[in-house]
Amino acid sequence: MKIKKICCIGAGYVGGPTMAVIAKKCPEIQVTVVDLNKERIAAWNDTDVNNIPVYEPGLGDIVAEARGRNLFFSTQVDEAIQEADMVFISVNTPTKTYGEGKGQAADLKWIELCARQIARVSTTDKIIVEKSTLPVRTASTLKDILSHTGNNINFQILSNPEFLAEGTAVEDLLSPDRVLIGGDPSPKGQAAVEALVEIYSTWVPTERILTTNLWSSELSKLTANAFLAQRVSSINAISEICEVTEADVNEVSRAIGSDSRVGPKFLKASVGFGGSCFQKDILNLVYIARTYGLNEVANYWEQVIIMNDHQKRRFAKKVISSLYNTVSGKKIAFLGWAFKKDTNDTRESAAIYVADHLLNENAELSVFDPKVTAQQVYTDLDYLGTRESTKNASLVTVTKDPYETCKGSHAVAVLTEWDEFNSYDWQKIYDNMLKPAYVFDGRDILETEKLKAIGFRVYTIGKTQTQ
Ligand code: NAD
Ligand code: UDX
Repeated sequence: MKIKKICCIGAGYVGGPTMAVIAKKCPEIQVTVVDLNKERIAAWNDTDVNNIPVYEPGLGDIVAEARGRNLFFSTQVDEAIQEADMVFISVNTPTKTYGEGKGQAADLKWIELCARQIARVSTTDKIIVEKSTLPVRTASTLKDILSHTGNNINFQILSNPEFLAEGTAVEDLLSPDRVLIGGDPSPKGQAAVEALVEIYSTWVPTERILTTNLWSSELSKLTANAFLAQRVSSINAISEICEVTEADVNEVSRAIGSDSRVGPKFLKASVGFGGSCFQKDILNLVYIARTYGLNEVANYWEQVIIMNDHQKRRFAKKVISSLYNTVSGKKIAFLGWAFKKDTNDTRESAAIYVADHLLNENAELSVFDPKVTAQQVYTDLDYLGTRESTKNASLVTVTKDPYETCKGSHAVAVLTEWDEFNSYDWQKIYDNMLKPAYVFDGRDILETEKLKAIGFRVYTIGKTQTQ
């Protein structure tokens, strides 16, 4: 079966970039990305590609090339579904904030709404592709909803989880380590798998396209994120030992990462992992394990989150204890708010939680991030619900100039590993701070010796402080 028209429901961090790359690589396929969010669609259609809603290096050029040719962004969801041979579901699946499974299970209400909408408006056979990250066995729910339309339409469900990381989305999509496609073993199911394999094989070598059954594919996505996050929590746990033993966490990472069985990637100690995926997907895995009565399995994976929360908290505590056990009324400058560099995404960013902890101590924060807006910073803090938003607004300022952010502060804390932080004039920053002037490097990106020579007291994650 040759796919001519694709519809993708959800124009977010995954739907937008993924579809842009499919449209670039398959000019003969018409790709329409739809969303209920009118502003988001309007931004994707902005004539200036600098204003598209997702910041990813290289994405603007791809959108500029394909948009209007075979890539379209629209709010006409019904029409796009109706016309398509293949429908990707790429909507959000956040952690539930209410009811059964609150704080752990994935909220699948948007997924179910999509399935019901597809069932309602479809008039021709379609392949439905799960692109969102979903609990294992969600495909059976989709199948159930779609098989009760009563209009004899054949729906095949595929699982095709997305492994892109933010900040490198375009690179990851153009040259993925693997593409994973899970499908039903029936002939029709396998024909659907082949149709999707054909699309990806336009640019992905076939040996990198893995096909499995539906359940392995769904579970592999949660497992991949759990393993990656587990590596970060593992090295972060070691970073705390390093700080009290004069071992250097970077040296430990290099030493263990040189073992080809361990590998060097994802061993960078940090103030804690963030992002919309790791925590949510591990919590979901924990919930699934508990649902099946697998308590040891659940406890094992939950520890990854417990360690991560500890890492964020202990960074904040380090700031407080260094500043003579009180930060009340003291200005602390935050460099970075995004959950990692090269993205404007702040979801679950460690910065939010470190800030919350310091604000509980009545610190005054000044924030600078090259890509995050002031409004986003306040939204993130207000969302926690720890204090009145008027209080957040009075305790936190957000500036567009890093030097302004640091001016008059007692301490600078690095929360995101933006490259530009290293190129700042640190002498100038020092001269305008209160003394003793502290730097808390939660990402280990600054040149510690240079800062010490200037006069800073420097704390770096995973290193014993020697001053
Ligand atoms: P997102 O919140 O950025 O985008 C989801 C979009 O779906 C929103 O714009 C929302 O308005 C839209 N939407 C929701 N319900 C809709 C409906 N019924 N009809 C039309 N539009 C609807 O989310 P995201 O970061 O793109 O993540 C999407 C999925 O991909 C999640 O399951 C996530 O776990 C997974 N994922 C995310 C990443 C990542 O790096 N962000 C990576 C891999 C997988
Ligand atoms: C992750 C997965 O990598 C990706 O495959 C999946 O599709 C979505 O979730 P993402 O969250 O975008 O991607 O970014 P990632 O690079 O994985 O970083 C996640 C968090 O871990 C960031 O806060 C990052 O700073 C942190 N991290 C990562 C570390 O602290 N140390 C590391 O060594 C690697």
